[in-house]
Amino acid sequence: MDYVFKMVVIGDSAVGKSQLLARFSKNEFNADGRATVGKLVKAQIWDTAGQERYRAVTSAYYRGALGALIVYDITSAASFEQVPRWLEDLRAYADPGMVVLLAGNKCDLGELRAVPTAVGRELAEREGLLFLETSALDATNVEKAFLTVLEQIF
Ligand code: GTP
Ligand code: MG
Repeated sequence: MDYVFKMVVIGDSAVGKSQLLARFSKNEFNADGRATVGKLVKAQIWDTAGQERYRAVTSAYYRGALGALIVYDITSAASFEQVPRWLEDLRAYADPGMVVLLAGNKCDLGELRAVPTAVGRELAEREGLLFLETSALDATNVEKAFLTVLEQIF
């Protein structure tokens, strides 16, 4: 039997959610991904708009999701400061057992970094989240981010 699971990707506008998904789906059929869990896992990953005017999507969006990525942009302190709000959303609407990974995206832009790695990791540890820095541009940790969540679920 195949596993099908739903995962959501949230975070402020322009942090790179859609690009992370695009990058991941291109590598989706990588044999490593299957070997890790030993069965075919079909990930149903929901992308959403980070813009304020679309934030009405709530319980329907999170319903049935077993995993989530909360994404911020390491070059944008503002996007990092919004992470607690996204967590609030998750805690209000999502399954309490949901596996959540905090992803500091755009780590290819190290020279423009505004959020130190240690600060991101600290927040993740304090909130009980998994943590990785990713780059949708050069593919750093993209597959790992999705597969880490997946491995925690199954
Ligand atoms: P909304 O749909 O508005 O919520 O935004 P989003 O989070 O889906 O952002 P999107 O994926 O559209 O990316 C926003 C911009 O950041 C685009 O110009 C991307 O090319 C760029 N971008 C995304 N990921 C990366 C990354 O890892 N590195 C760099 N350098 N740019 C990135
Ligand atoms: Mg998008």
